[in-house]
Amino acid sequence: MRVGILTGGGDCPGLNAVIHAVVKKGIQHYGDEFVGFVEGWRGVLDNNTVALTLEKVDGILDQGGTILRTSRTNVRKIEGGIEKCVETLKANKLDALIAIGGDDTQSVTNALIQAGVPGVGVPKTIDNDLNGTDACFGFDTAVSIATEAIDRLHTTAEAHNRVIVCEVMGRDAGWIALTAGVAGGAHAVLVPEKQIDLDHVCKLLKYNHDHGKKYGIVVVAEGAKLPDSGAQATHGTKVDSFGHARLSGIGSILADEIEKRTGYETRSVNLGHTQRGGTPTAYDRMLSTRYGLAAIDLVHQGKFGRLVVLRGTKIEDIPLADAIAKNRTLDESFLSILDGLEPKV
Ligand code: F6P
Repeated sequence: MRVGILTGGGDCPGLNAVIHAVVKKGIQHYGDEFVGFVEGWRGVLDNNTVALTLEKVDGILDQGGTILRTSRTNVRKIEGGIEKCVETLKANKLDALIAIGGDDTQSVTNALIQAGVPGVGVPKTIDNDLNGTDACFGFDTAVSIATEAIDRLHTTAEAHNRVIVCEVMGRDAGWIALTAGVAGGAHAVLVPEKQIDLDHVCKLLKYNHDHGKKYGIVVVAEGAKLPDSGAQATHGTKVDSFGHARLSGIGSILADEIEKRTGYETRSVNLGHTQRGGTPTAYDRMLSTRYGLAAIDLVHQGKFGRLVVLRGTKIEDIPLADAIAKNRTLDESFLSILDGLEPKV
């Protein structure tokens, strides 16, 4: 078969491991040929392709980023975009398309499937909030990086009797903040699923201070919401000159508010894209590999319109449309972990 592959949306450690597994199994077991689209859907719109051979994927398993590169080009927002993609895929005489990406990417895959394209999806987002799967690759790597950073913030915060606010990624869900925050022993963890209660955060810091801990670590997800206040006005979503929505600033705004309210010297650090860069953890390499092998198998079983997912310890597949219906956010069983660790203030 002739199979197209692309990686779309924000990059994520493990993308290359998926490509590696798809191409290896496809060529070695099924005798497939692979066409890689460069820079996600942009490559499909521009018919910018590269042949993916065994040599091309040799040694990429442990590399961060994506050898195909990526973009946030959303075909659904471009007039005639879906038709243009269908044309390119036909011109490349493809029997199937494997799209590796998060909800934006998969919403395009879904539109193409409805237009008759035989497509299969692989879930990707470090935010870990794609519906229908228990885990996305890249999340474990992001959590490891954030946890290590938080560990390091403890010693410098303690040395100076400071509060440090650490902002992590997580636009709609607090998976990274909660997991890295708990693993890193943060004194407060703030997530998009629960509006920030500044009084409560300050009370926690003060309680710790009065009980001998003269420093504090606050972990906040970039998408966490402040209550209505003057501070909120300066925080929110901005659209950059490329038309991409960007969140900015919650960490530093929070740090200013905490300093003002508690009188404790406060700093903020935004881990930003360091969480997405570099080599994937062993867990993510394994998950990506399993997803890649399952995706090429689905193609050969003719099971199109499906997304490979992790359910417990098993790789399964679900209708791709189900994954893009809504985000998977933290539920009470996860939020209660934070509650369980906090002192009563
Ligand atoms: O969607 C994943 C994500 O890493 C979000 O957590 C973050 O808000 C966004 O991507 C950043 O996107 P960009 O790389 O376009 O700035």
